[in-house]
Amino acid sequence: MSTVEEPVETRRDFLYFATAGAGAVAVGGAVWPLVNQMNPSADVLALSTVRVDVSGVQPGTQLTLKWQGKPVFIRARTEEEIAQARATDLTDLPDQLAQNANLAGDADAADENRALSEDGVWLVQMGICTHLGCVPLGEAGDFGGWFCPCHGSHYDVAGRIRKGPAPRNLDIPVASFVDETTIQLGSNEG
Ligand code: FES
Repeated sequence: MSTVEEPVETRRDFLYFATAGAGAVAVGGAVWPLVNQMNPSADVLALSTVRVDVSGVQPGTQLTLKWQGKPVFIRARTEEEIAQARATDLTDLPDQLAQNANLAGDADAADENRALSEDGVWLVQMGICTHLGCVPLGEAGDFGGWFCPCHGSHYDVAGRIRKGPAPRNLDIPVASFVDETTIQLGSNEG
């Protein structure tokens, strides 16, 4: 791992942010995650982490970053969004599972099982449509969450599929708060 070389340009590309929310990413652990974009091994993938400063992300906005070569959405939800997500009848959900890598695979899709923080504010998801892998648009679609225009999949404000061909809720990666304003993606435990 110590032999990794980082072309400056690639590193800069990795540390890029697509949306308006202010934030910063610090790379944690001994391995630069950009390695994953080049020629990842299973070990490197398992070990790679990033730490994201979310102190500047206001309620109702989303930070998008690239991690392990894939987009990740970090959203600070409004009170209204949280209330809407938590009022949803689970029987209305095409995918009844949380799809949350932090929980057991049979955890249900209640909003409490998808939000990162107990207060429901923080929602961290892979920004990849579970149909064929397009990047969904935020604050769009019939349910006010995300909309994938490729084939018309609508996700709600908890990232749960509600309409369209996508078979699963947006996947939630391993994530945790390391302090009040820093979210770590990935696990330190290999
Ligand atoms: S890839 Fe998203 S709807 Fe097909």
